[in-house]
Amino acid sequence: MIQLVGEGNWVQTMSEWVLAAQEEDLQENTRLVINAGEHSVLLLKRAGRILAIENRCPHLGCTLARGKIDGFIITCPCHDWQFDIRSGEFTAAPEITIPVYACKVLHDHIYILIDSTGA
Ligand code: FES
Repeated sequence: MIQLVGEGNWVQTMSEWVLAAQEEDLQENTRLVINAGEHSVLLLKRAGRILAIENRCPHLGCTLARGKIDGFIITCPCHDWQFDIRSGEFTAAPEITIPVYACKVLHDHIYILIDSTGA
Protein backbone atom coordinates (compact mmCIF):
# COMPACT_ATOMS: atom_id res chain seq x y z
CA MET A 1 0.00 0.00 0.00
CA ILE A 2 1.25 3.49 -0.86
CA GLN A 3 0.24 6.38 1.40
CA LEU A 4 0.62 10.12 0.93
CA VAL A 5 2.17 11.47 4.14
CA GLY A 6 2.73 15.08 3.23
CA GLU A 7 3.16 17.35 0.28
CA GLY A 8 4.82 15.22 -2.35
CA ASN A 9 6.00 12.63 0.19
CA TRP A 10 5.03 9.03 -0.35
CA VAL A 11 5.84 6.03 1.80
CA GLN A 12 5.17 2.39 1.24
CA THR A 13 3.43 0.58 4.11
CA MET A 14 2.75 -3.08 4.51
CA SER A 15 -0.76 -4.00 5.55
CA GLU A 16 -2.05 -7.50 5.88
CA TRP A 17 -5.26 -9.24 6.82
CA VAL A 18 -4.72 -11.08 10.10
CA LEU A 19 -6.96 -13.87 11.35
CA ALA A 20 -8.56 -12.53 14.53
CA ALA A 21 -11.26 -14.99 15.60
CA GLN A 22 -13.88 -17.42 14.51
CA GLU A 23 -17.10 -15.58 13.78
CA GLU A 24 -19.05 -17.73 16.25
CA ASP A 25 -16.77 -16.58 19.09
CA LEU A 26 -17.87 -12.95 18.71
CA GLN A 27 -21.50 -12.71 19.70
CA GLU A 28 -23.50 -9.49 19.85
CA ASN A 29 -22.31 -7.18 22.66
CA THR A 30 -19.28 -9.30 23.41
CA ARG A 31 -15.67 -8.28 23.16
CA LEU A 32 -12.44 -10.11 22.45
CA VAL A 33 -8.87 -8.93 22.83
CA ILE A 34 -6.60 -10.03 19.99
CA ASN A 35 -2.85 -9.72 19.92
CA ALA A 36 -1.68 -9.07 16.37
CA GLY A 37 2.04 -8.44 16.25
CA GLU A 38 2.72 -5.32 18.30
CA HIS A 39 -0.98 -4.43 18.41
CA SER A 40 -3.51 -5.26 21.09
CA VAL A 41 -6.85 -5.02 19.33
CA LEU A 42 -10.29 -4.92 20.89
CA LEU A 43 -12.79 -6.75 18.72
CA LEU A 44 -16.46 -5.94 19.28
CA LYS A 45 -19.84 -6.72 17.82
CA ARG A 46 -22.48 -4.01 18.17
CA ALA A 47 -25.79 -3.82 16.30
CA GLY A 48 -24.56 -6.61 14.03
CA ARG A 49 -21.39 -4.72 13.10
CA ILE A 50 -17.95 -6.12 13.73
CA LEU A 51 -15.57 -3.40 14.87
CA ALA A 52 -11.91 -3.45 15.81
CA ILE A 53 -10.06 -0.70 17.67
CA GLU A 54 -6.68 -0.36 19.30
CA ASN A 55 -7.01 -1.60 22.87
CA ARG A 56 -5.03 1.29 24.30
CA CYS A 57 -6.29 4.70 25.34
CA PRO A 58 -4.28 7.58 23.81
CA HIS A 59 -4.48 9.53 27.07
CA LEU A 60 -2.29 7.47 29.41
CA GLY A 61 -2.46 4.03 27.83
CA CYS A 62 -5.15 2.26 29.84
CA THR A 63 -6.75 -0.85 28.44
CA LEU A 64 -10.02 0.03 26.74
CA ALA A 65 -11.32 -3.55 26.91
CA ARG A 66 -12.35 -2.88 30.53
CA GLY A 67 -14.34 0.19 29.52
CA LYS A 68 -18.11 0.61 29.59
CA ILE A 69 -19.83 0.63 26.21
CA ASP A 70 -23.06 2.49 25.55
CA GLY A 71 -24.23 2.26 21.96
CA PHE A 72 -21.10 2.95 19.92
CA ILE A 73 -19.35 4.92 22.67
CA ILE A 74 -16.68 3.31 24.83
CA THR A 75 -15.59 4.98 28.05
CA CYS A 76 -12.01 4.48 29.17
CA PRO A 77 -12.04 2.95 32.67
CA CYS A 78 -9.20 5.17 33.90
CA HIS A 79 -10.28 8.80 33.37
CA ASP A 80 -13.57 8.50 31.46
CA TRP A 81 -12.44 9.69 28.03
CA GLN A 82 -15.04 8.55 25.54
CA PHE A 83 -14.46 7.31 21.99
CA ASP A 84 -16.73 6.41 19.12
CA ILE A 85 -15.79 2.83 18.27
CA ARG A 86 -16.85 3.31 14.63
CA SER A 87 -14.49 6.19 13.89
CA GLY A 88 -12.07 6.05 16.83
CA GLU A 89 -12.73 9.73 17.57
CA PHE A 90 -12.47 11.13 21.09
CA THR A 91 -15.92 12.65 21.59
CA ALA A 92 -14.59 15.84 23.22
CA ALA A 93 -11.89 16.45 20.60
CA PRO A 94 -12.32 14.50 17.33
CA GLU A 95 -8.77 15.30 16.24
CA ILE A 96 -7.64 12.79 18.88
CA THR A 97 -8.32 9.26 17.72
CA ILE A 98 -7.62 5.66 18.50
CA PRO A 99 -6.73 3.44 15.54
CA VAL A 100 -9.69 1.65 13.99
CA TYR A 101 -9.04 -1.44 11.91
CA ALA A 102 -10.97 -2.67 8.91
CA CYS A 103 -12.66 -6.04 9.44
CA LYS A 104 -13.94 -8.70 7.11
CA VAL A 105 -15.55 -12.10 7.50
CA LEU A 106 -14.44 -14.88 5.22
CA HIS A 107 -15.53 -18.50 5.61
CA ASP A 108 -16.75 -17.95 9.20
CA HIS A 109 -13.51 -16.30 10.27
CA ILE A 110 -12.96 -12.65 11.19
CA TYR A 111 -9.92 -10.89 9.76
CA ILE A 112 -8.57 -7.46 10.66
CA LEU A 113 -6.35 -5.29 8.49
CA ILE A 114 -3.13 -4.54 10.36
CA ASP A 115 -0.27 -2.33 9.32
CA SER A 116 2.63 -4.71 9.80
CA THR A 117 5.16 -1.85 9.89
CA GLY A 118 3.88 -1.11 13.39
CA ALA A 119 2.41 2.25 12.43
S1 FES B 1 -5.97 6.60 30.21
FE1 FES B 1 -7.87 6.64 29.22
S2 FES B 1 -8.79 8.44 29.88
FE2 FES B 1 -6.89 8.45 30.84
